[in-house]
Amino acid sequence: MSENAEALSRPHSLDEIRRRRTFAIISHPDAGKTTLTEKLLLFGGAIQMAGTVKARKSSRHATSDWMAIEKSRGISVASSVMQFEYADHVINLLDTPGHQDFSEDTYRVLTAVDSALMVIDAANGVEAQTIKLLEVCRLRDTPIITFMNKFDRESRDPTELMDEVESVLGIACAPVTWPVGMGKRFRGVYHLLRDEMLVFTPGQESREQELEIISGLDNPEVDRRFPEEMADLRDEIELLRAAANPFDLDAFLAGKQTPVFFGSAINNFGVRELLQALIDWAPGPLPRPATSRCVEPDEEKFSGFVFKIQANMDPQHRDRVAFLRICSGHFQRGMRVRHLRLGREIQIHNPITFLARERELVEDAYAGDIIGLHNHGSIQIGDSFSMGEDLQFTGIPYFAPELFRRVRLRNPLKAKQLQKGLQQLAEEGATQVFRPLQGGDLILGAVGVLQFDVVAERLKSEYAVEASFEPVNVQTARWVECADAKRLAEFSRKLEEHLAEDAGNRLAYLAPSRVNLELTQERWPEIIFHATREHA
Ligand code: G4P
Repeated sequence: MSENAEALSRPHSLDEIRRRRTFAIISHPDAGKTTLTEKLLLFGGAIQMAGTVKARKSSRHATSDWMAIEKSRGISVASSVMQFEYADHVINLLDTPGHQDFSEDTYRVLTAVDSALMVIDAANGVEAQTIKLLEVCRLRDTPIITFMNKFDRESRDPTELMDEVESVLGIACAPVTWPVGMGKRFRGVYHLLRDEMLVFTPGQESREQELEIISGLDNPEVDRRFPEEMADLRDEIELLRAAANPFDLDAFLAGKQTPVFFGSAINNFGVRELLQALIDWAPGPLPRPATSRCVEPDEEKFSGFVFKIQANMDPQHRDRVAFLRICSGHFQRGMRVRHLRLGREIQIHNPITFLARERELVEDAYAGDIIGLHNHGSIQIGDSFSMGEDLQFTGIPYFAPELFRRVRLRNPLKAKQLQKGLQQLAEEGATQVFRPLQGGDLILGAVGVLQFDVVAERLKSEYAVEASFEPVNVQTARWVECADAKRLAEFSRKLEEHLAEDAGNRLAYLAPSRVNLELTQERWPEIIFHATREHA
């Protein structure tokens, strides 16, 4: 590119990069993630998509994301990443598979976002899956916006809900809106920063609601409309102004404080305020650490990493798509980029974008965006791509599995195919494979139980291997390391029966129980036990 052309293109790219917001929704199943996603898309003008998300939901009986795709092709695929525009911003919403689709991918998606929206069912408070997902956000201090959903139903006390977030999740809460009543008596929310009463109108499921706003808590209009509620509300607000954390942008960006909003996703109430917070406060594409240096999003040269591989998107072609998060620069179709692990240049002729219901070819994409690369087995999770520089991105880890199974091969003559298949599936992130130092059986690890079904199915269809899985006495795993090689050798000798190597030949301790793990950690203080391990 000539210098002139470069000067012309650069400011444009900078604007494009700065107007991006890439985030995921974290929640426990049934808290309202799908409903909220639909409403967000509604605001983004992708109204037809709202139906698409619903369609995915109704195919829940399908045994997994990719099997569901075989049934209703294109739907889950498109909803893995959704891009839409809102208020002159480009929003990339990444799906965090839940329910039966819960897998390591769910965790890894969170390594590819710049912020997250936490949805809590206001009747249930903080639930198990939210706790796990928030722990993953913690690894990178991802800024979190909180939405207390379903206030149109009887809910827990709002102060109690915030206390629970603070004590269970260890993040300070700053209320931005405050609910006025709940259930049948839900009147709306008061916006603490704007001094406005946003009036709730039920039953606005299907269209963008014209929101009624009454300005000022002292406005006689609020007393006229809500004569029974106002005395209590004024007391509550006075108390909040004195005692609650005021919103602090820096604390939010550091992942230390979460702005809290109340509403009802199904009634499309409170959703607009969330989008506004995302645009006003959530960070645009953030710098990303690589082994050699930190990469800034507005660097001119393209770079990115793969955080997810989805197989069988098209069963006819056995294709796999690698989801790449762009970390810097401007991507253009047909670009030649370097695949660092293989040390090879590849040309990306037909990348996929997720703009519409159908997969579309992408011409341009910028830092913060996700593009899909067709993959015939050469791309692995954690692979980095650049314009030549040696930029291996970090922070795309494997997570310690929580479920384990011993693999049983039906036909012993297929051991080689089994090894090959499992190795490849492990590289794609579909499962983790451990080879115990003692005994010949392989052990699979996963975080979602359906991962085992997917592996069995794929071994059968792609590698012609019939395998079954049996329970095994392992409850958790940790990758182990020690600066002192002699001590590590001693540890390996003494605890050989609990040790295994993973697909990347890293040593892991497979603990039969959490108590066992704790005791072992106490007994071997020089050994470092890691709950995650980097791909590279
Ligand atoms: P998920 O993706 O987090 O699993 O949750 P989803 O949106 O599917 O919501 C779970 C259930 O909660 C759904 O009801 C949904 O309609 C309901 N829901 C979501 N937001 C609200 C809300 O603001 N208020 C109330 N009252 N309910 C809400 P369902 O009966 O399980 O499914 P469906 O038949 O309605 O789809």
